[in-house]
Amino acid sequence: MADTNSSKKPNSSGYLKRLGARILCEANDLKRTPEALAKDLDLDFSIIQSVLDGGADEETARAVLFRMAECYPVSLSDLWVDRDDTGGGAVVMKASRSESSSRVFERPDTGGGSAPYYEYRDTAMSRLAPFKPEWIRELRVVGDADPANPGVVFNKGHLAHQQTFFIGPVNFYWEIDGQRFCAEMETGDSNYITPFVPHSFASRDADEMAVIIAVTYSGQVHQSLQDFSRIGAAAADAAAGSGLQDGFASRLRRHLAAESLLPGQFAEMLTDAGLSAARAGALTGGEAVPGPDELSLMAGVLNVRDEDLMVSPPEPGDQVIVRRHGEATVRQFPAGNEPRYRLRELARSRNQPYLKGFEVTVLSEAVKTGGEGDFRHGLHEYVYNYGTEAVIMTWGADGREAVLEPGDSAYIQPFVAHGFEAAGGDGNLVMVRIPGNLTDALFDEYASFPASGRLRVAGETEVWF
Ligand SMILES: [Fe+2]
Repeated sequence: MADTNSSKKPNSSGYLKRLGARILCEANDLKRTPEALAKDLDLDFSIIQSVLDGGADEETARAVLFRMAECYPVSLSDLWVDRDDTGGGAVVMKASRSESSSRVFERPDTGGGSAPYYEYRDTAMSRLAPFKPEWIRELRVVGDADPANPGVVFNKGHLAHQQTFFIGPVNFYWEIDGQRFCAEMETGDSNYITPFVPHSFASRDADEMAVIIAVTYSGQVHQSLQDFSRIGAAAADAAAGSGLQDGFASRLRRHLAAESLLPGQFAEMLTDAGLSAARAGALTGGEAVPGPDELSLMAGVLNVRDEDLMVSPPEPGDQVIVRRHGEATVRQFPAGNEPRYRLRELARSRNQPYLKGFEVTVLSEAVKTGGEGDFRHGLHEYVYNYGTEAVIMTWGADGREAVLEPGDSAYIQPFVAHGFEAAGGDGNLVMVRIPGNLTDALFDEYASFPASGRLRVAGETEVWF
């Protein structure tokens, strides 16, 4: 997609240094010194040295990377480093730019032909962020809330998770186990849609703007597609299981298979550790779910953490969550006497604990703060100005600033401090945060490293072996 970045050009020397560090890290894993790398790749040592230092040009650095993928059993995708397309950690997309990306999609109509159904527009995105937020106008107009309305055309669902924010009179349709549902949504309402749940949207009023902000994003499955396609659907399905009992049994089965431990052998080990033979048999056979003490005991026998055996299965009703504007929790931020924002939670899903959507009111009477900004967190953040007032966005340690007019959108990288100020009256933003690859599992692993070595993760600087 086109460069949406309205800020400064990305820093090229920083990118080349990251590429050099990535190559050194991989060479380390392969137990190759820079000299050995040069010999294997049949390149001059001075070329390798300059690439590792970040001093070579991009073409040379990428040529080294491609040669490594040919010469060694390493994946190009593990070596690849994407160029940062943000300006200081943020991308801003003006409404006019979104408009110029407009395309209309048709779907079958009731007369046997096809007619416009949606108008799509891109909004702020970054290649470093796993979401594709879009502005979608509903062009099919319906006169009822009947989920079987023949004018409503469902999709087949998609691999991306979706948080939707509604603007205007939009009907939301979805299908679970062959049963179709419809909810009449208003401005400020929101939903969460699980991957592969078929859904659709339509307008209730041809004269009013009926729009959704659809924030689709990839979860861990999407980001592990290579592995999934290699094991095949049947193996993935059998390994995953479903439901609480089945979910726990599947998790335990994966651990036992990894240890090449038969259920009977594991049951004996549990009996030796103090469980009755009957209970040990029921737990290993998948007929029972352990209580907290039993779970700790099983984890101890397997030398894993308690949480490695904990399963919170999906519940009926988790697949689609609808939250009305009026029922949402509202709080001031920061708390205290001088709040600058009112945050209203959008639909939440316990299965996506780091999906955090908000409707944000940027208070015009707020006291100016100065400093780096009010928000700083480990999630990717998307913002869209759906109101009628401009909002000033500030971000980064070097105090960058951009005006978000109505219809403008922005993306902010994890851990980049940022804030918003009303330019006139109260501002109205949709804000959706998603985790990407920066998961709890990742931070737990990182936390286990000795502090002295941690800094080397972000950019390997030395030959360690
Ligand atoms: Fe969708």
